[in-house]
Amino acid sequence: MTQWSREMRYRKLEDATQAEIKELTEKVQASSYRQQYHIQPSTGLLNDPNGLIYFNGQYHISHQWFPLGAVHGLKYWDHYTSRNLVNYKHEGVVLEPDTQHDSHGVYSGSAFEFEGVLYYMYTGNHRDQNWERKSSQIVVKVKDNGQVEKLLPPAIAEPPIGYTQHFRDPKVFIKEGKLYALIGAQRTDETGCAVLYEATRPEGPWHFKGEIQTALTNFGYMWECPDYFQLNGKDVLVFSPQGIASEGARYKNIFQSGYIIGELNFDTLEMTHGDFIELDNGFDFYAPQTLTDEVGRRVMIGWMGLPDTEYPTDKEGWAHCLTLPRTLVIENDILKQKPHMHLRQLRMNKETALGYANKFLKQLHPYEGQQYELVIDILDNEASAIEFHLRASKNEATVIRYETETQKLILDRFDSGALPSPVEGTSRQTVLHTPLRQLRIFIDTSSIEIFCNEGERVLSSRIFPQKNANKIKVSTDSGQVYLQMTKYDIQGGNADE
Ligand code: FRU
Repeated sequence: MTQWSREMRYRKLEDATQAEIKELTEKVQASSYRQQYHIQPSTGLLNDPNGLIYFNGQYHISHQWFPLGAVHGLKYWDHYTSRNLVNYKHEGVVLEPDTQHDSHGVYSGSAFEFEGVLYYMYTGNHRDQNWERKSSQIVVKVKDNGQVEKLLPPAIAEPPIGYTQHFRDPKVFIKEGKLYALIGAQRTDETGCAVLYEATRPEGPWHFKGEIQTALTNFGYMWECPDYFQLNGKDVLVFSPQGIASEGARYKNIFQSGYIIGELNFDTLEMTHGDFIELDNGFDFYAPQTLTDEVGRRVMIGWMGLPDTEYPTDKEGWAHCLTLPRTLVIENDILKQKPHMHLRQLRMNKETALGYANKFLKQLHPYEGQQYELVIDILDNEASAIEFHLRASKNEATVIRYETETQKLILDRFDSGALPSPVEGTSRQTVLHTPLRQLRIFIDTSSIEIFCNEGERVLSSRIFPQKNANKIKVSTDSGQVYLQMTKYDIQGGNADE
């Protein structure tokens, strides 16, 4: 595998020759793991979704991008537009590291609309000669012709006293006419938190308002990618804490993304809230960001990947993708995440089957594929446990297991094919709030997203099976289950460049 020196990782796109980019692009295109309907990098590494907004009839979706290889190098924002959130047009680089403040990366940030104009605020990552990090928050104005203007000096030149240079990922929102920027931070005692700034205009001045006061005063060493929104009358704070140890079946991934729900007082910044709950119980989900869609639904998109982990595509010159958009709602005090309704626009070739499954592993004909949506309705369940084997062949299978009595749902990647590493264990599990009634599963060439009971729980994971692992099988431990399976092929979705 390529040894990535610091010089190689911090090369700009224009420092690479055309021949190098062509060679890399061809290598990536030859990968058998390329996705069909998820946003993925043309080359190199994708991470956090950035600058999500519905503006002037169009969605804008950008992401963190290092173009020259599958490592965390010099970050750009790569940009897509969409009319419906599910078919995308690749627009190319929108923000590049071209100032002293972002010389070592245009880090994560958000989009907002002010007086009919689109703006971004992102973190400029700079390293000095001693490789000491300097973080600033920079506002960008997007002109009518799409050209971007960085408003310098940075809107927030440095972290406030009491916080380290781990200070990034501003999420700007507007409340009662005021602009707020919520920023992920680390206190000087190396605990994580989120802080709030306010302004009356994008160009500032931006005033430090204070830290969001939660009960999680010692919860990890850094909170990345915070987000705030109101949903069904509640205040929701989303963030990605680093440094939380695993606890039984919880917090198994290297870093987590989750939320707290309650009430945030914007005068005192005190937040009363319930437990921190992980947003996704799969293997690969991090740094999500939300936007409101064309009718005001709250929609979330995450990074289907994690830092500090090697993925099987790294050696092919690319890594990661974004998740599908999910609509958030609070129902019966539970935050639910449902596949965005526009995803139905990608459906074609519907096939349905109704029948019993029992302890003999049965292959469902003619259900085959590497990219599809599968809806499984559990109509009557007398089985002690049900297993669905997806992307299955003689040697491979990604297993979803549901244990009736405990309402536990398990995703097992043991036989899925190539695996990322290091990753703790090969299974992830969650307990459903109510007995399993429905699974809605999106399979792409190298990913699985499982929505349980209309979004009560979601499990998102990358999987790297071989091409011939395309069967669907079902069985029970004992007893039988009556199922309706509906499978749709998926049409398009991917960037129509
Ligand atoms: C989260 C993150 C952010 C940062 C970005 C850099 O994955 O570490 O905190 O802005 O990635 O690429």
